[in-house]
Parts: sequence; structure tokens; C-alpha cells
Amino acid sequence: MLITNANLPDGRTGIDLLVQGGRIAALGPKLPAPAGVETVDAAGQLLSPPFVDAHFHMDATLSYGLPRVNRSGTLLEGIALWGELKPQLTQEALVERALQYCDWAVAKGLLSIRSHVDVCDDRLLAVEALLHVRERVRPYLDLQLVAFPQDGLLRSPTALANLKRALDKGVDVVGGIPHFERTMADGAESVRILCELAAERGLRVDMHCDESDDPHSRHVETLAFHTQRLGLHGRVTGSHLTSMHSMDNYYVSKLLPLMAEAQLHAVANPLINITLQGRHDSYPKRRGMTRVPELLAAGVNVAFGHDCVMDPWYSLGSADMLEVAAMGLHVAQMTSQAQMRACFDAVTVNAARVLGRPAELAVGAPADFVLLQAADPVEAIRLRATRLLVVRGGRVLARTPAATAALSLPERPASVDWRVQR
Ligand code: FE2
Repeated sequence: MLITNANLPDGRTGIDLLVQGGRIAALGPKLPAPAGVETVDAAGQLLSPPFVDAHFHMDATLSYGLPRVNRSGTLLEGIALWGELKPQLTQEALVERALQYCDWAVAKGLLSIRSHVDVCDDRLLAVEALLHVRERVRPYLDLQLVAFPQDGLLRSPTALANLKRALDKGVDVVGGIPHFERTMADGAESVRILCELAAERGLRVDMHCDESDDPHSRHVETLAFHTQRLGLHGRVTGSHLTSMHSMDNYYVSKLLPLMAEAQLHAVANPLINITLQGRHDSYPKRRGMTRVPELLAAGVNVAFGHDCVMDPWYSLGSADMLEVAAMGLHVAQMTSQAQMRACFDAVTVNAARVLGRPAELAVGAPADFVLLQAADPVEAIRLRATRLLVVRGGRVLARTPAATAALSLPERPASVDWRVQR
């Protein structure tokens, strides 16, 4: 396959990309077309690395309304509701919902997902189901699993043993939820135990960390401390970090360099943070998303995750990482040209770095890419651009017709698309 005349996210235009043996064989202007190769004219549209979701819950997805809807819409009712649903889960239903979500993902060009999987069920039903799904989807989607003690590592009596069993079965990453432990001290202790476990086993770490509006929550500081103490630099992610929104500015000025020193990755989940945080506020209501521009300026790799789609915590979503990027852009007021492009990176290359996967389109890399009906990353976010072509390992996985509408207006064109004609 030869893609011609594409724009790249870094601003290069008129670029051709040649695929051979499932890899990118050449990338540059005006490549010669080898005989017998299918040629796709990108016509000045954006050829992007695939979308990557750095934070998701595939065991809960598409369960909206089971066994009932979340009446208050709060995080805590969501956790209680998930507790009600867990005993009713079957492996078949978990697998079927996860596979359906992966179909949605592929159609939207979302080809790598890091999913947390709840290990606070002694049957490890969800772990078994998602390990099965990871293998089923391997030919077309990279699913990375995090052992997540939803009910608290120390608060739930069997969580640590279950988490180790999940890792023994092949779950990839060590998870945690320190702010949900009974005390701040227990939270800090859970971070120590989990980081040491990851260091022993040579694994990465990704914790739900400080997912609250508590300005005094300090678990990300502890996470950064144990990361540097154990030499886990670059392998540890703090997810949510919503308390940073409410922290004292002086304290944050100390915290950011500590996070950068430990090479922590940060994941904000804009759709969920903006809906779940600030629930105890009257007006003004806090937005609750972590300090994305400040983290980026401090040199921390920041990705955006979807977190939830149609589950006990969130009743919307469609595996569209451009919707996630758009919300992150708005909530963080990242409206300069460079900041808007950074929001696109947060759902592509930055998120790939969180997973420890190859990120950029480059010669020798797997031929994984998405052709978007947009000229550049900002237009892609603005339009939630149609994924015209989704390719993995040189194989076309999905095609979507270009978005257009037929017009019946006097003295106007017969059709419209939403790109600005230049
Ligand atoms: Fe989460």
C-alpha cells in the first residue's frame, strides 16, 4: 500500500507513506510507487498514528442500566452500583460487551487500550474474561491490562492476594487506589506495597491516584517518591490526579518537579473528571481535572483517557478519543494552536508512551495509522473527524465514508462538508 499526499500531525505536508511487510518502509515526499501496490490518495488529509486510550475500564463498559442506573451520577454511587453488579456478572456477558467495545474502538481508529480490571472478586471473573479478550483481539487491537483493587488494597481483605493472582495469570500492570483506603496512612502504605511489587516483578504501575477534590490528598507525592526510590523511572503512571486541581499553588510548585524527576506519566480523564468532581461544591464549582498545561510545562508526559463508556459511572461515550481530546482542551482552556495540538498528542503519541508502546509514524515502525477527514490535528478535534481508513500492520481494519450532507438551497453548492476551503 502507498498512501500519497498526506499531512502529518507535526505539520509536514505532501508526504507519501509506503507499507511493506506490515511495516512503514518509506516516508517522505514523492515516493515512487512499486508495481502492483494499492495507492490511496490522501488528498491533503491528516495521516495520524492510531488513537491510544491510556485509561479505561473494559470490565464495566456497556453495562449501563445494569442492574439499575446511577441516580445521583456520583463517583461513590458508581462504585456502590458496580458492587451490586459484580455478583451478577457472567464471563460470557463480560467478553461479549468487551468485544463489542473493541469493534467500536477499531472503527474509531483506537488501536491500543490500557484497561484497568477489578481484582476485588475472589472468582477473578473479570480478569479471566479480559485475559481471554486480550488474546481474541490481539490480531487487531493492543489491550494492556492493569490489576485494579477497586475496593482498596488494604481495605478489602483479599485484594492483595487477588492482585498477585491476577499478575500470575498474566495481567500486565500493577494498579492501585490509595485515596479509597481507610486512612491517608493506609493509602501511602498501599502505594509502597504496590510499587515494591512492581519493582520485584519488573512491571509497570498505573494507579488511580488522588481521584478526589481533597486539596490535602498527597498520594501522587508518595507515588513519585517510591518511583524514584525504586528506580522505576518512566514506568509509573498517576491516573486522574484530580486533587491537584484543588491543591495549594505553593505545594504544587514543589510537587511538579518531583513528578518530573521520577518521570511519572499523568493521565487525565476529562469527560469523567468534569462530571464526577466538584459534586460537593455549590457555586463556583471546581472543574476537577488535573493541571494539564502545568504538568506539560514541567516536562511530565500527559495523556487523556476515556475512562468510562456506558457504565455505572458514565452513561455516554462512543470510543471516540477526539471527543476526549475536545473535552480536555476545553476544560484545561488549552486554546493556543500549540496547546490544541498537544491535546491531539494526549490521545495519540503521549498515550502510547504511557503504555510503553511505539508512538510515532517512522520508517521501520509497524504500519499502524489512521487517515482522518481533516487537514490537521486541530481540525480533527474540531470536527471529531471521520476515520476514513484505519490500518494496522498494513491491513485495512475499517473504512468510513467521508462525512457530507446534500444541500437543497438556492444558489448554494449541492453538498457541504465542514472543512474550511482554502
Ligand atoms: Fe478509572
